[in-house]
Amino acid sequence: MPRVVESSTELRQKLLRAGQVGLVPTMGYLHEGHATLIRRARAKCDTVVVSVFVNPRQFGANEDLGRYPRDLDRDLRVAGEAGADLLFHPDVDTMYPPGYATTVSVGGVSGPPEGTSRPGHFDGVATVVLKLFNLVQPHRAYFGEKDWQQLAVVRRMVGDLNVPVEVVGVPTVREASGLALSSRNSYLTDEQRGRAVILSRALGAVQEAALSGELDTARLRQAGLDVLGQDPEVDLDYLTVVDGDMRERGRVENDPMTRVLVAARMFGVRLIDNLPLWPEGDPA
Ligand code: PAF
Repeated sequence: MPRVVESSTELRQKLLRAGQVGLVPTMGYLHEGHATLIRRARAKCDTVVVSVFVNPRQFGANEDLGRYPRDLDRDLRVAGEAGADLLFHPDVDTMYPPGYATTVSVGGVSGPPEGTSRPGHFDGVATVVLKLFNLVQPHRAYFGEKDWQQLAVVRRMVGDLNVPVEVVGVPTVREASGLALSSRNSYLTDEQRGRAVILSRALGAVQEAALSGELDTARLRQAGLDVLGQDPEVDLDYLTVVDGDMRERGRVENDPMTRVLVAARMFGVRLIDNLPLWPEGDPA
């Protein structure tokens, strides 16, 4: 079992002579996607720290902060089985003590699509991630590609602010059905999860169109929209094809950074997912 550490002083003390440190930042309710990140860190680092902190600053006023799933026993079990050494579990006052007044705001890649739908979200993410980097001082930090734009924001921040951390992006882990793993899937029943697979099917349709040679963004989008239109439960926020700088252009480039991103509400739950149009190594 990993050791639970709640204070920054104890964290620093536990990390003395820790060698190469890997950090897996999470909001808890760990699943196989997180376990994959932890195993990647375990394979490369001497000490693996998993942070579990439901960061209030990245939730909008009408979002699910209050009901976000929490289960520390489950987190300890999953983190332990995957090879974590320490579980950093600060409370809100430890991260944002009275008088706290600083926000990290990353330009450019924090905008559309996700940043427009969730104003302030990436300020909250960048702020907490930089704080975690300063507290843990990891050599490497592991993030899932499922939150593709978040990964772009963290990379931009690390580059712009010369943060001495290697950011490692890890491919999305999916259920056999194709549904991307997410702590928020726990809000759905089995039947609803079955219906939510439509999001990854839509992304697959866009990828297939690209692999067949379609480069026109509007037509690529339409391939995905045709799939999403098959289920009236899909309340679409966006389906967009973007380059590595999160820009939507009229035509796409055959480049591993070109991605199709989707966000939709189904059964009252906001779900996101993405796929590369040309998976690495596929010349199309
Ligand atoms: O991806 C998440 O779980 C969160 O956004 C993160 C990176 C842990 C920051 O709170």
